[in-house]
Amino acid sequence: MSAIDDTVVADVVDLAAQRVEAATGLTFAGMRRRQFDAALERMAAALSLPGAAACASWLLAGPWDDARNALCARFLTVGETYFLREPRAFDVVCDQARALLARGAARPLRIWSAGCCTGEEPYSIALALRRGVPQLPPERVDILATDLNDAFLDIARAGIYRRWSFRRADPAGLAAFFRPLGDGRYKVDASLRAQVRFARLNLAGDAYPSAATGTLAQDVIFCRNVLMYFGPAQAAHVIARLRDCLVDGGCLVVNASEASTRLFPGFTPVFLEDAVFFRKDAPLAPAPVSVAPAVVPLAATSAPAPRAEPLPATSPSAPVPAGAAAMARVHALAQGGGREEALQCLRRAVEAEALSAPLQQRAALFALEHGDPALARHCVRRLLYLEPDNAFGHYLWALIEDTAGRRPRTRSLLRDCRRLAGADAELLDAAGAWLERLS
Ligand SMILES: C[S@@+](CC[C@H](N)C(=O)[O-])C[C@H]1O[C@@H](n2cnc3c(N)ncnc32)[C@H](O)[C@@H]1O
Repeated sequence: MSAIDDTVVADVVDLAAQRVEAATGLTFAGMRRRQFDAALERMAAALSLPGAAACASWLLAGPWDDARNALCARFLTVGETYFLREPRAFDVVCDQARALLARGAARPLRIWSAGCCTGEEPYSIALALRRGVPQLPPERVDILATDLNDAFLDIARAGIYRRWSFRRADPAGLAAFFRPLGDGRYKVDASLRAQVRFARLNLAGDAYPSAATGTLAQDVIFCRNVLMYFGPAQAAHVIARLRDCLVDGGCLVVNASEASTRLFPGFTPVFLEDAVFFRKDAPLAPAPVSVAPAVVPLAATSAPAPRAEPLPATSPSAPVPAGAAAMARVHALAQGGGREEALQCLRRAVEAEALSAPLQQRAALFALEHGDPALARHCVRRLLYLEPDNAFGHYLWALIEDTAGRRPRTRSLLRDCRRLAGADAELLDAAGAWLERLS
């Protein structure tokens, strides 16, 4: 291909990335751009098109329709979720339920899981309420769960999960809500399933707030680990719309790292040990909400940020403590809203403890979960240099390769992971299930 051809292809791919961002909110700026290029190849294969450039042209041609949405949802979003993720977030729901009962209100409690993925989050909300507020009858709880990806929604509606979905929650403790199917999978109890309404909804679109989508007057909205895929202007736009969907005093729950660089006008932030939420306190002044988010310190909002748990006094430039203490500081920084500071502190810890395999492993996981695949790769390399047979290290490496769109490499790492996992049934199961999905 000539240099001119290369430039034309790059331009077409750029335009396609811009169109995808405008239609879905998913942004591929900076380091994520390589992910888009790799995904285009896989999308082209799915459409039987000759390559990335042809797929980019297809994305650009004609009106944006369901077929384009479905393809993007399938190839450009990540289905990482599990039951009772960041458990304190579910206390927020229970507190709102108790407040509703205390007010003697007759209306149902309304919860929305926006970006619900394969359903673990909305089912966790339902079961947290059953366990935490049994005096609230299930028929007075309305849980809406939406996602862009129909394939994820199909899995969510079926309600069948492998052990990996329970990696932070013991299924034995949830026996009342899950039926073992005898093949290592569990089915969500029918009464719990009946409480959750699944629907496709594109957060980058304008279908909310609206009575037609059932998104009005929500008490709590979970929008965790979704905003991080959007550009700043789109994230601010989504946050403003979600605010309009909440009742006064309602709560928007996000991931701590998503709270760091965004402005949430008209909300008061509340930091919990492993979760962050924003409470809608008062009607906003009539001035329009800016879509270009100014980054201001949370302390600059009108009300002080109450902290349910005191966080350790910490600064990224302080001397790096050893091992678990280093990771505790990194997590405290992230929970305090300082994603960049947390990653900076992590980089220093990773170098200070270059020979600690457990630290490299934890650091890789944190870096991956907080959107720094380059740092994650660095840590996984170190980990596998120190412990070449570390099965979880191979799983982490597979996650990194998958993020970069290198499917054959991902497969081979998952096979290595299974070979090395020995008696670790959970890891065997997770790697096996993922391999099945890839085949
Ligand atoms: C990492 S999962 C988060 C799942 C869950 N909220 C959690 O925290 O465990 C991100 C989800 O956001 C969804 N998503 C991405 N862009 C979206 C959009 N524009 N509208 C709706 N959902 C979107 C993806 O399909 C994916 O299921």
